[in-house]
Amino acid sequence: MADGQVVSATLFSPLRKIPGPKLAGITDLWMLFQVLRGRGSIEIDRCFREYGDIVRIGPSSVVVRKPEDYTEIYVGHKYRKDARMAKLRIFGIENVISAVDPGVHRHLRKLTNPLFTSESVKALQRPLQELLDDLFVHIDQSSRRQESANMWNLYRLLAFDFLGQAAFGNSFAALRKGTEMALMHDMDKFFRLLTIKTGLPSWVYDMTCCIPVSKWQDIVHSETRLMTLDNEIDRKGMPLSESFLCSTILIFLIAGTDTTSTSLAWITWALARYPQIYKRLRKELEVAIPDADILPDYTSLRRLPYLSAVIKEGLRRWPPASLYLPRIAPPGGAVHCGCFIPESTSIGCSPYAMHRNENIFPDPDKYEPERWLEESNGIYTLKSSSEMMSSYMAWSTGVRSCQGQPLAEMELYCVIAALTRRYEFYPDPETTDDSMREFETLLLQPISHSLKIKFEQKF
Ligand code: HEM
Repeated sequence: MADGQVVSATLFSPLRKIPGPKLAGITDLWMLFQVLRGRGSIEIDRCFREYGDIVRIGPSSVVVRKPEDYTEIYVGHKYRKDARMAKLRIFGIENVISAVDPGVHRHLRKLTNPLFTSESVKALQRPLQELLDDLFVHIDQSSRRQESANMWNLYRLLAFDFLGQAAFGNSFAALRKGTEMALMHDMDKFFRLLTIKTGLPSWVYDMTCCIPVSKWQDIVHSETRLMTLDNEIDRKGMPLSESFLCSTILIFLIAGTDTTSTSLAWITWALARYPQIYKRLRKELEVAIPDADILPDYTSLRRLPYLSAVIKEGLRRWPPASLYLPRIAPPGGAVHCGCFIPESTSIGCSPYAMHRNENIFPDPDKYEPERWLEESNGIYTLKSSSEMMSSYMAWSTGVRSCQGQPLAEMELYCVIAALTRRYEFYPDPETTDDSMREFETLLLQPISHSLKIKFEQKF
């Protein structure tokens, strides 16, 4: 930024009265620096504690955390997605996540919605059961060798295969083989690329692409290599272009693999870490699932209050999509927390910080499924409406909320129920509070990228 621009951002910007770190008022590099050190949302949360419910995190970017602001920003198309999201196009082709224009977005979402209807999702329970059987083979083999199973890796393979099943009608069989496909490595690299691509101005990013460092070039070219997915697609009867199908399926794989596997890992960690919570869930499941080998249908699992609370609280405490989701203030501007926000200002909420607002979630660091339950005559049910729901952002809300939620929720319910009903489990000595420290790339993950768990069969 030139000196003149710094002076104008500091002295004359209509956002100058909004509190925040001094450096953030001058340059977007402050936020990029926090993101690159894995502390994007953690810093936003810290700022809310220091400055209040509205914080300036860039010369033209603010974050808010009150429930009414959250609803206002996300519920409709009034606040469009930030144009930076267009960088999430794959091979330059628009997809549901990258589309900024409401008309294009509506069209793409409608086109892909059939994948997520309750009928489509229910039809996937049987293939999911087959994947669970593969998962149990790995766990049992580890137990026989008196070793822990690394659930971080296994969940990733399972989530990837499950999406393969949903998108192609056939799993990639990565879990059965127990090894990651090259495509998954490229997805990781592409993810890293996106963090940098969305954080930097386009011209700076384009310049960095020329840096002749082989590791960096490997990351830059991950997008081109992802094209090899094209070979895997069975296009029979699909009247859509190859590259459109390919980029759509890829964006689902990218949006849905690590988000779901990371949630599974956090929830499994919580159950292993807090035996009293495991025991209460186990008691509920012993009644609901008399035979550990036969999972009841998903609809009845969804009715279990404690299982539901365990999952909801897992996504609250560790929302995998944790980073601030930017939108653009509408024409004419808007008022938030008593401050005028000029049109085109980037504004949004961070799921991580929303879920740690002490006024709404007391003792927010505590993993406490009970906070979602209410009791009447000794019967516990999930709270039907609560203030907490108005700040719950794990799936976001409104027109741009997670399209894959029905699929992901089925996976979370079935996997957590089957695992808890079948095994007793404990953290391996290598898996500790320290190895599970939160680190945020684009997702909120444990810093070790590992979750070693010891299992004992308990039918
Ligand atoms: C636990 C698992 C998941 C979580 C927590 C999660 C969370 C989210 C969140 C917070 C958003 C909003 C992003 C934004 O506003 O910018 C989102 C969007 C999206 N998610 Fe997920 N997601 C999960 C799994 C999945 C799966 C399995 C799929 C696909 C198969 C998927 C597909 C999408 C798509 C396509 C969007 C963009 C929706 C739109 O803009 O209309 N997600 N997700």
